[in-house]
Amino acid sequence: MTTMIDDPTATLNQLNPEALSSRERELNIQYQQFRLDNLSLDLTRGKPSPSQLALSNGLDEVASDFIANDGTDTRNYGGLDGLSEARQLGADLLGVNPEEVIAGGNSSLTLMYLYLLNAWHYGPPGTTTPWREAGPARFLCPVPGYDRHFRILEDLGIEMVNVAMELDGPNMDQVEEQIENDDSIRGIWCVPKYSNPGGQVYSDATIDRLARLSKSSNPLFRVMCDNAYAVHDLDDDCPDLANVMDAFRLHGSEDKLVMFGSTSKITRAGAGISFISGSRKTLHHFKERMQVFTIGPDKVTQLRHVRFLRDLEGIKDHMRKHAQILKPKFNLVQDHLSNELEGAGMGEWTKPRGGYFLSFNSLPGLASKIVALAAGAGVKLTPAGSTFPYRRDPDDINIRLAPTFPDLHELDKAIKVFVVCVQLASIRQALTK
Ligand SMILES: Cc1ncc(COP(=O)(O)O)c(C=O)c1O
Repeated sequence: MTTMIDDPTATLNQLNPEALSSRERELNIQYQQFRLDNLSLDLTRGKPSPSQLALSNGLDEVASDFIANDGTDTRNYGGLDGLSEARQLGADLLGVNPEEVIAGGNSSLTLMYLYLLNAWHYGPPGTTTPWREAGPARFLCPVPGYDRHFRILEDLGIEMVNVAMELDGPNMDQVEEQIENDDSIRGIWCVPKYSNPGGQVYSDATIDRLARLSKSSNPLFRVMCDNAYAVHDLDDDCPDLANVMDAFRLHGSEDKLVMFGSTSKITRAGAGISFISGSRKTLHHFKERMQVFTIGPDKVTQLRHVRFLRDLEGIKDHMRKHAQILKPKFNLVQDHLSNELEGAGMGEWTKPRGGYFLSFNSLPGLASKIVALAAGAGVKLTPAGSTFPYRRDPDDINIRLAPTFPDLHELDKAIKVFVVCVQLASIRQALTK
């Protein structure tokens, strides 16, 4: 069946060669017009926008006395675990007890790196076998995923094994099969709420299966659970994440879990509090290393944060203000994608209810072409492949879109260009068949 050539929603494989050529010419005219506009737009940055950052300007007006609840002078050295009120905040954020949290410095990514480095060098908490001495070391990486997680493993020389990311978390059949059949699997990366980049929230069943399989996994296996977007909902009725620590406790596998979080996308990016959470055994072991590399975290910043955010309710109120800024941006992107690409057979994308990103899958072989086309029209996209270990997307399909930083006007222009690039690349590919 052929379709009218001026129907932009015509499914790609319904168009005959003449219709495809005609559509290609139309799209190319639009594309060349964008090039003449001399755009300079950036959709790569998963950063808060200036108006989001301004929501936390009040941080500078609190805690002028510097004295914490227990009398600690936050301006001085000490307090390896962080202030007890900061640990409470982290406990609320991650759904654990305060004694299961250490409140650290400005970056959770640093804590993740240090945890893995220590496991590599000394063995994960509760063991005395360093990963580096236990033969080949492999790690499960749900894909697409967060490039910086992959970069840490690459740095340590740990081999990465892709597992598919589904709508409710990693494909648990693949995860179970890998762990059952390969004793060299040392861990798995998880971003359980609003995964980077797809924005998926792990289902209760996924968390339960992770906790259960951790119990029977080899003693050197650990779940790296990065809950960076724990409170980053766009609406009040967003899906809840099951309590991860409780699930692991239920199955007796809490020593296999280590969780992370931070205030980076709550207050100031890279200028707040980071958290590491785990069982007593896990934290005790980690602290043995911490006392070698630090005398204590920046407690002045911790106290300011606690006074500013107060508690979980305070954090939720604050996050509603972020949502007011972010929701129109996510809606705008979804509107353009669904108006121009829904049912067109040119790709599919996620529809996150929170977090910082969405994930677009083009037709196979086209992601890098789309990124290059967009660059040619002045729109920077995250390089194709960066959401995969070793920057190798085997099908060259995935593109991470980050709508948070640009203002609405810029975002509108950038997404229009993106859509035309997807259409142009898809039609050109169809013409070569
Ligand atoms: C999943 C995830 N984890 C961690 C981070 C960085 O966290 P931090 O600023 O606490 O190092 C990011 C930043 O984009 C992220 O997307």
